[in-house]
Amino acid sequence: MFDLARTLTTDSKPELYSELASELTALVDGERDSIAHMANAAALLFHRLPRLNWAGFYRLVGEELVLGPFQGKPACIRIPVGQGVCGTAVARRASIVVPDVDAFPGHIACDSASRSELVVPLIRDGRISGVLDLDSPERGRFDEHDQRGCEQLVAILMRACDPF
Ligand code: SME
Repeated sequence: MFDLARTLTTDSKPELYSELASELTALVDGERDSIAHMANAAALLFHRLPRLNWAGFYRLVGEELVLGPFQGKPACIRIPVGQGVCGTAVARRASIVVPDVDAFPGHIACDSASRSELVVPLIRDGRISGVLDLDSPERGRFDEHDQRGCEQLVAILMRACDPF
């Protein structure tokens, strides 16, 4: 198993995300409930990815994102589409890596410890049903390997859930 005591380098990220893909695939086996799967995915990511202070989901309900299963400190409940990093990812229908949240206009600070962020939209058959949001207390924590790895995890999750 990937040794968390080992420094997470760009080279070792693909190995970690490959393990996380296997672990998530095992966790979703035999079940279709989206809330249960988002809850377990948030716990998996929060405990297996180093240097995070928040990992969780927002569901798209009408024109707003509504807080879903997460790990970390309590967070803001509603984010309109187009606002914050999460709402911007929905409006753009694309993942967003924010190396420095202070440099992202409109960033919504739920936890003042957050310094960088990665948001991946949940898309199935062209329809967005929410976002995965990861926060780190470290600037520049996320790169394209994290983005690609999390997009693959989100794809596993969306295939495993009933539409929501
Ligand atoms: N920072 C996010 C808000 C959600 S929290 O980080 C959990 C944003 O700007 O959309």
